[in-house]
Amino acid sequence: MRNFIFHNPVKIYFGEGQAVHVTEEAKSRPGAVLLVYGGGSIKRNGAYDDVTAALREAGNEVVELSGVTPNPRLDKVLEGVNLVREHGVSLILAVGGGSVIDCAKFISLGSGLGEDEDLWYDYVETGKPAPENLVPLVVVLTIAATGSEMGDAAVLTNWARNRKLGYTSFPLTPKFSVLDPTYLLTLPAEQTTYGFVDMFCHTCEQYFSLPSDDNLSDEMAEAIQRHILRSWCACRRHPRSYEARGNAMWDSTFALNRVISRGKEEDWGTHGIEHALSAYFDIPHGAGLAVVHPHWMKYVYTSRPEATVRFARWAVNVWGVDSTGKSEREVAEEGIERYADFLRLVGAPLTLSEVGIPADPATLDKLADHAGDVGGSYRRITRDDARAILASCVTPVVF
Ligand code: NZQ
Ligand code: ZN
Repeated sequence: MRNFIFHNPVKIYFGEGQAVHVTEEAKSRPGAVLLVYGGGSIKRNGAYDDVTAALREAGNEVVELSGVTPNPRLDKVLEGVNLVREHGVSLILAVGGGSVIDCAKFISLGSGLGEDEDLWYDYVETGKPAPENLVPLVVVLTIAATGSEMGDAAVLTNWARNRKLGYTSFPLTPKFSVLDPTYLLTLPAEQTTYGFVDMFCHTCEQYFSLPSDDNLSDEMAEAIQRHILRSWCACRRHPRSYEARGNAMWDSTFALNRVISRGKEEDWGTHGIEHALSAYFDIPHGAGLAVVHPHWMKYVYTSRPEATVRFARWAVNVWGVDSTGKSEREVAEEGIERYADFLRLVGAPLTLSEVGIPADPATLDKLADHAGDVGGSYRRITRDDARAILASCVTPVVF
């Protein structure tokens, strides 16, 4: 196990009606509250009514920033930074999914920078740590997917430059997050699927990495993956089930609250490649992951003995593959095939054409250039490897 620090201070209020906790937080701050949300789903799922009631109770001035798009963009963040400065905002309240939360995290960061500093070039592109004492952020989550509600990471698109980059810094961590499953009851099947793909992929990006020694993190990752698969099926069968939606929320939060990456190298190769797809084609993050992930698996599973052993273990422990009389390689392949079959069954896209991306040489080059060297644990994925993986995404994965 590698050395690590574990420090995740996000308080979670889970359950119906928990948005009332926004009142005490807002009341404790003298200034205005910036309410950040997306295209309007929060007005249909009850979250908007709940948070505006909680804010009325607190009595603060409320400034709204709506229209945050999926794959949130730099210009929206800068609009939010201006509002914070103009209105003396002392609390940012993000109500929505990963896009809204990430936009709010960057607004918080942007508001804390000096006049001569540039959010994109000085921080997002360089990864320079955020200053302390940013305007605090609280979250009311409405989609189970990214885990942004319990983490210090955020992802931003600079549309003018077709760049989508992740940024991680502790001061971006939300103070608390409200996980009320009732807000998820309005989620369309497609968004539900993309969210599940994302959280499942998050657990894999941590689990499929060195070292391979005995580590509780890996056992927990397998348990979370099995549970995600159960919640996924339950949400498909009973989309209006509070219990199923609640499980999905807790799954997504635990898939990326860093518990299961402790002691691990991690390997965010699939995410690195996917961000290129959504940077150029503005597709849902989970859709892009579904296309790339099984192909990334096929590319790395025989790259070193530890990889094959791990993929075989995953096939048995997560997918229930019977290993009797089979080689580790065969078991591993069966696991990857079952994963791709499952993605097909739940309606996720498996090829570039299914997400509207042409696979001509010029496009593949452009996407590979954006991905660049995405690193890796079992196998380092260079720009040319990323291109080879993308080129294989013209068909579903086959062995
Ligand atoms: O805009 P509205 O009207 O709110 O509609 C949203 C949006 O169209 C809708 N939605 C959300 N909650 C709903 C709902 N519709 C009906 N009922 C509800 N309860 O869903 C659509 C997608 O929302 P979005 O926030 O984009 O989804 P998600 O949570 O998947 O976030 C994706 C973004 O997060 C980034 C992705 O790259 C992408 O930009 N990620 C952030 C991470 C992080 N901060 O740690 C890690 C991830 O790997 C990911 O990269
Ligand atoms: Zn993701």
